[in-house]
Amino acid sequence: MTAAIPDLRHRTAVVTGATGGMGQVIAAALVDAGAHVVTVARDPARADMLRARIGADSRHRLDVISGDLSRRADLRTAARIIEDRYEQVHILVNNAGAHFPDHRVSPDGVEMHVALDYLAACGLMTHLDAALRRGRARIVNVASDTLNDTRRIKLAGRPRPPTLDLTHVDDLADLNPRAGFVPFEAYARAKLMTVTAGYALAPSFATDGVTVNAVHPGIVATGIIDDLIPPALRPFGTLVRRTMLTPAEGAATALRIATDPGLAGVTGRYFDKGSVAATPPISHDPAVQRKLLALTEAHFAR
Ligand SMILES: NC(=O)c1ccc[n+]([C@@H]2O[C@H](COP(=O)([O-])OP(=O)(O)OC[C@H]3O[C@@H](n4cnc5c(N)ncnc54)[C@H](OP(=O)(O)O)[C@@H]3O)[C@@H](O)[C@H]2O)c1
Repeated sequence: MTAAIPDLRHRTAVVTGATGGMGQVIAAALVDAGAHVVTVARDPARADMLRARIGADSRHRLDVISGDLSRRADLRTAARIIEDRYEQVHILVNNAGAHFPDHRVSPDGVEMHVALDYLAACGLMTHLDAALRRGRARIVNVASDTLNDTRRIKLAGRPRPPTLDLTHVDDLADLNPRAGFVPFEAYARAKLMTVTAGYALAPSFATDGVTVNAVHPGIVATGIIDDLIPPALRPFGTLVRRTMLTPAEGAATALRIATDPGLAGVTGRYFDKGSVAATPPISHDPAVQRKLLALTEAHFAR
């Protein structure tokens, strides 16, 4: 896979979630291609595992900033450090994400899927704005096709995207409330928000040569998957994992969108593995996009 990645010497890539399944592969492949890779990690032991994977010869091209990306203060600090250290960011892969099996609230009062699967991605796009524009960056948001269909088992019926009704929402803390909480839908809604925000930011970024795309990597055997396997299938977990993509196979889509010279200038798209795919109409609604960005700006202004 690395063979297909162009020479990335003198390029800076920010990759979140690089201590886990796909992110580790993405970070290692970008370092192998010559890039300087920056990540934000919350667990020093997991950061050490990433360093071990990168290897002693290239480790000087890995910069680990400590922080929990679901926390507003940590995100702001990490973004400030990145902008202080790097004049330009050429690649941003917003890959950190998780599925939470129950209702949890971040220290900022926001439901955890919103905090991590949406705000970490949108927060880095907006807080790194200047460095991304100077680097004419490619931004890749690792989403999930749950944004098109929240059915756990797709044997009957039609695809059921998550709802995203911002009409009476005054604060992102109002989203994914405890009452009626369905974890899989909350996760899907946060991914839909990330794709929607990417579409909203793409036109302005395009004026400086920055592209913003999102990907569904496929169903990949990583840390997140144990929680996502429907309960009825959990006794067969090992067998189920064998039917999934490997982390390297899953990472290939984000790596391609981030580096393939043939995709230069392509922006505002959603890729389901290798192919451009549609997302729910609401993600293209200009009023929803504006409201989402305004709520997000208000969140980070506090
Ligand atoms: N696996 C799939 O089938 C699948 C399908 C569709 C989309 N995705 C998406 O793919 C992305 C990568 O996930 P994965 O499958 O590779 O799962 P994973 O192995 O669980 O990796 C998740 C990564 O996110 C990091 N992370 C989680 N919470 C964080 C926080 N608060 N602050 C900073 N980093 C945090 C994890 O760090 P730690 O090492 O500290 O835990 C880890 O590096 C996610 O956005 C996921 O939603 C996955």
